[in-house]
Amino acid sequence: MTTPIQANVGKPNDEYALLDTGRMKKLETVGAYTLVRPAPQAVWEPSLDETDWRRADGVYTRDTGEDGGRWTFHKKVLREFDLIYGNLNLRIKLTNFGHMGLFPEQAANWDWMRAAIRRRLEQTNGRNLYVLNLFGYTGGSTLACSQAGAHLVHVDAAKGVVDWARKNAQLSALEDRPIRWLVDDALKFVQREERRGNSYQAIILDPPTFGRGPKGEVFKIEDDLVPLLQSCRAILAKDALFVLYSCHTPGFTPITMANQLDIVVSGRRGKVEAAEMVVAERGAGKESGRLLPSGVYARWLADA
Ligand SMILES: C[S@@+](CC[C@H](N)C(=O)[O-])C[C@H]1O[C@@H](n2cnc3c(N)ncnc32)[C@H](O)[C@@H]1O
Repeated sequence: MTTPIQANVGKPNDEYALLDTGRMKKLETVGAYTLVRPAPQAVWEPSLDETDWRRADGVYTRDTGEDGGRWTFHKKVLREFDLIYGNLNLRIKLTNFGHMGLFPEQAANWDWMRAAIRRRLEQTNGRNLYVLNLFGYTGGSTLACSQAGAHLVHVDAAKGVVDWARKNAQLSALEDRPIRWLVDDALKFVQREERRGNSYQAIILDPPTFGRGPKGEVFKIEDDLVPLLQSCRAILAKDALFVLYSCHTPGFTPITMANQLDIVVSGRRGKVEAAEMVVAERGAGKESGRLLPSGVYARWLADA
């Protein structure tokens, strides 16, 4: 197992950038705006001046109450707008929970999946390649794989989020590609696929610590992850290409992730990598090189 640090330093036309971090906050450029959001892991001093932080157009602060927190805006800010990031055109929504529909730390995984799919399609003269994306959220991974030419099944429990992902497909000019959009419980879906004998050449999963299926089914990572991974093993095709497993659960380290990924891929020939996901600061027009840890991943790629 190798453990590389995977830095996302961004692409030249990206309209998202991490400018600075520190004092448990992050300063980001998101489209036309500069925003401050919580970053509990950033227990260090910011690099930029306080005046740079004070100039932010919006600040999200977390409350202890039910609704999570609130935005304070210092100028007129649209709560919904579109931006280009990681070769995708995405709708951003400044939600009441502080989320905005984008996990920028995933962009390096999008590139890795695109490259793997393109290589396999070349080797097989374009034979259909099926990718299952569980807990697909607003569709970044789905759309990256679709751009590379794969057939997708995208599963998420929340209809509103699936609609948002479909909107992103439209914005990224991918709405006519072979993508099935399913509002379903991830565990139930995979167990059903196992009973039906269906299989996939690639599986992506980004489980939450706690989540609910569309009929209120509870997903608790400590109880439901292992059965989910066991069923993923059962539906991973003989000619599988990759498995990408990521999460943001506190206490899950790259080694935890690699051990769990092993449930899916043990005995197969290929390469496993496990590392932290990070976003690199791009403050004051320079690559400062400081990395903001943003979750972990383990991934397996079949031998070519
Ligand atoms: C991408 S995951 C978790 C993201 C990130 N790893 C984190 O912990 O914040 C969040 C997505 O999972 C979906 N989700 C939660 N429980 C689910 C379930 N039981 N079945 C399918 N999707 C679910 C949510 O609707 C949401 O879009």
